[in-house]
Amino acid sequence: MHSGLFGKTDADCVDDMFVQAMAHPSPDAYQFVVCMEAKTNEIVGFACYGREALTKHTWDVFWICALFEYRGRGVGRSLLRDVVARMSAADAHLIVIYTSSTPPYAPARRLYESQGFRLTATVPNYYDLNDDMLIYSQTLKKI
Ligand SMILES: CC(C)(COP(=O)(O)OP(=O)(O)OC[C@H]1O[C@@H](n2cnc3c(N)ncnc32)[C@H](O)[C@@H]1OP(=O)(O)O)[C@@H](O)C(=O)NCCC(=O)NCCS
Repeated sequence: MHSGLFGKTDADCVDDMFVQAMAHPSPDAYQFVVCMEAKTNEIVGFACYGREALTKHTWDVFWICALFEYRGRGVGRSLLRDVVARMSAADAHLIVIYTSSTPPYAPARRLYESQGFRLTATVPNYYDLNDDMLIYSQTLKKI
C-alpha cells in the first residue's frame, strides 16, 4: 500500500510484522486491522497495534496509515477508534503512540489529538537532527 510517506525500510518493517502476525497469531502478537472500500474490496487503510513488551497493561499503536487518495475521509479516525476499542476490550490501561515532530506527520498528530491522545513526552533529535520523537498517550483505566 503506497503511503506517500513511509520509505522502503518502513514498508519492510510492516511486512515483517504482518508475516509474524499471520504465522504466529496470538493475543500477544501484533494485531492488524484494515479498512476496506465496500464497493471494490480494496484495502484503503490499516493499523497495527499490540501489547507493549515488558508492561502489564500498556498497548501501542505501532502503525496507522490511510491510502493517499483516501486521506481526509475518516479512514484514519475509524481505524484509530476501532483499535482503541479493541485494546480497551482487551486489558489496556494505557495506550501509547510514537511519532515524529516533522511537518509530514502533522495530520497524524492532529488525528491523535482529535481522538483524545495527549502529547506526553518529547525526545529531542531522536529520529534525526531536528526530528524529535513525540510520545502521545491516552489513559483508559486508572491503575
Ligand atoms: C495520519 C493519517 C492516518 C490520517 O488518516 P486520514 O484518513 O487522512 O484521517 P481522517 O480523515 O480520519 O481525519 C481524522 C482527523 O485527523 C486530522 N487530519 C487528517 N488529515 C489531516 C490534514 N491533512 N491536516 C490536518 N489534520 C488532519 C484531523 O484532526 C481529522 O479530524 P477532522 O476531520 O475532524 O478535522 C494519514 O494522514 C496517513 O496515512 N498519513 C501517513 C502515515 C502516517 O503519518 N501515519 C502515522 C505515523 S506515526
